[in-house]
Amino acid sequence: MKIIFLVLALCVSLIIKADEGMWLPQLLNAMNIKDMKKNGLKLTAEQIYSINKSSLKDAIVQFGGGCTAEIISNQGLILTNHHCGYSAIAFHSTIEKDYLKNGFWAMNKQQEIYTAGLTAMIINRIEDVTAKVLKGVTANLTDIKKDSITKANIKQLEKEAVAGTHYESFIRPFFYGNEYYLFVTETFKDIRMVGAPPSDIGKFGGETDNWMWPRHNADFSVFRIYANKDNKPAEYSADNVPYNPKHVIPVSVKGYKKGDFTMVYGFPGRTQEYLSSFAVDMIMNDSDPLKVSLREKRLNIMETDMRGNDTIRLAYANKYAGIANYYKKWLGEMNGLKNYNAVAKKESFENDFTNAINADPAKKEKYGFIIPQLKKVYSEYKILNKQVDYYNECLFAIDAFGYARMYNVLLNELKKKQKGLTNTYDATLTEYKKLGFFNNYNRATDMKLCETMLNEYIKGVSSENRPYILDSFIVAYNNDSKKLTAFLYNNTNFTSKDKAALMLSDFEKFTNLYERDPVYYLTNSIIKYYSTSVFPQFQYDDREINELQKLYVQAQKELFKDKKFYPDANSTLRVAYGKVNDYKPKDGVEYNYYTTIDGVMEKYIPGDEEFNVPAKLRELYLKKDYGMYADKNGKLPVAFTASNHTTGGNSGSPVFNAKGELIGTNFDRNWEGTMSDIMYNPNQCRNITLDIRYTLFIIDKFAGAGYLLNEMKIIK
Ligand code: ARG
Ligand code: GLU
Repeated sequence: MKIIFLVLALCVSLIIKADEGMWLPQLLNAMNIKDMKKNGLKLTAEQIYSINKSSLKDAIVQFGGGCTAEIISNQGLILTNHHCGYSAIAFHSTIEKDYLKNGFWAMNKQQEIYTAGLTAMIINRIEDVTAKVLKGVTANLTDIKKDSITKANIKQLEKEAVAGTHYESFIRPFFYGNEYYLFVTETFKDIRMVGAPPSDIGKFGGETDNWMWPRHNADFSVFRIYANKDNKPAEYSADNVPYNPKHVIPVSVKGYKKGDFTMVYGFPGRTQEYLSSFAVDMIMNDSDPLKVSLREKRLNIMETDMRGNDTIRLAYANKYAGIANYYKKWLGEMNGLKNYNAVAKKESFENDFTNAINADPAKKEKYGFIIPQLKKVYSEYKILNKQVDYYNECLFAIDAFGYARMYNVLLNELKKKQKGLTNTYDATLTEYKKLGFFNNYNRATDMKLCETMLNEYIKGVSSENRPYILDSFIVAYNNDSKKLTAFLYNNTNFTSKDKAALMLSDFEKFTNLYERDPVYYLTNSIIKYYSTSVFPQFQYDDREINELQKLYVQAQKELFKDKKFYPDANSTLRVAYGKVNDYKPKDGVEYNYYTTIDGVMEKYIPGDEEFNVPAKLRELYLKKDYGMYADKNGKLPVAFTASNHTTGGNSGSPVFNAKGELIGTNFDRNWEGTMSDIMYNPNQCRNITLDIRYTLFIIDKFAGAGYLLNEMKIIK
């Protein structure tokens, strides 16, 4: 009786709340379809994912490896975010033709620009290969042996799956290695840029609005997939033709209302939903706060220098955006976890779990050690994790150190060349000789960074935990990071473009130029210390944690047979579903679930870096020239919030209505909800979607590229 009661109580506390979860598309039929229909979905599971017939899956693209895009015409036209196309747009921009600043629109196919290196990957099929991957792995083997068998099986299966075809494949572990899935894919390599709005529209709101709601930017860009004459992936060629996809996503301008079913289909990167209270405590109380405080200091230094100087501003803009993005995400995450009492919630779950396990002797024997052992490992892991955070976010926040570290790559290749091994030394050297590092570098700014970061390091890491050489420098300079920095920068070749050029002009001969360089010497002693005293133990613990987590998830699945489990995001194709919904960020504040162009004009600051509005858009606004893109209330919608569980990598993902029609493009989450990578709070976690009507309005009315709409299947 007691057991039944405990298990029941646990089930209730654990039942996945509506909207949480990133589900495997091939398992929708078995796991989710009933629930999805109950929530309004009008499609069958087969229409979302099918191997034999065309389905939505055939129109979902992994764009450039890290984002998602969707196919919206039978000529391979794809839609993604502006920030996903950003590097392509930047790459094609020159002072004369600044596409970031002014936008870009091909007015016919000849004007579309091929972007070298950009890829579009489509999933052909997904297969459960757990049994095959684990074949030959038995309990009595050592970890190393288990790993090597698994690896060999994976390699073999990946090869077999695509032998004699143009397909590619990869296998990934799910649930910490409880399951394995094979993905057969097609990767297109001739991707051409079709259009992008100016940054004043695509990036409107900049860093200030990033991760925030309400939102007013049109974060989209348009590309096209080209294939060879057989409609297969091919390297760029003038003879290639627009790709004819198996499925084209129809676009709906009919809008939506609060409570409507929504579905996001894409490639979420990484989540950790099954962590223990010890891990969540470490993230929320140690790791996130440390990384946030270090980045805050770093960003302040950059910002001060950027504000007073256009050259520095341009050089650091991208770096700054990247650092700011995760700074802000971690800040939102730690606050969200705190407000949700995340550690206490995890602890209470662990108590229930332990009681349930203890009530059954066989389970107690098999799983009883998991929680205590996790606690033990984390007490050590936490200390190492702090060291690693200091390594990445403090020592290597100093650009000169990062630059010096790069030279080890070159040196290794040189050694290979000297040994007569196949090498890419000459190609790498040519690349280094371009001295690209200095395009985004300012020595004075970096000196300030070095001074501040070393000071943080001195304050935060005690002497016995420091790399020996670094510690002796610190002692020699009497804990004065300013003096130490002056010494380093006055004696190094790594912060001067001319000196670096000299060093590279005859790299094999001028060995003394780096060997005796204090920055190089110090950097290498740091790397050496970490590779011997920190990383091995860190990785060892990581592996143990993974094994424990694997058992932990397995035990949960055994205990709670009725609960539906979704695997953590791992950059594979997933379906999230929820509904259009608003939220209350804090006491006394309520947010609406959608924004309109009126808000763009409210935020407008003439000439501002982040909040300028182009004249043409202001004109359209004044004339209320919204055409068929206006909502029923006459306003032009811009963005909306919904309760789909998403993360980084979901950028650019299609957001569907119940009929599988496109109503928008996912591009961000709300600040209060970034905690959903660790724990999903249904009251606070929202994804942010660019309304397709604003996208079409910008293409048609603003850019005058309405001809593109002729390719689309528009539902009015
Ligand atoms: N926060 C969004 C996503 O991770 C957008 C990032 C790009 N935009 C920006 N303003 N930095 O990743
Ligand atoms: N902007 C993110 C991306 O680039 C999506 C936002 C999120 O993390 O949910 O993938």
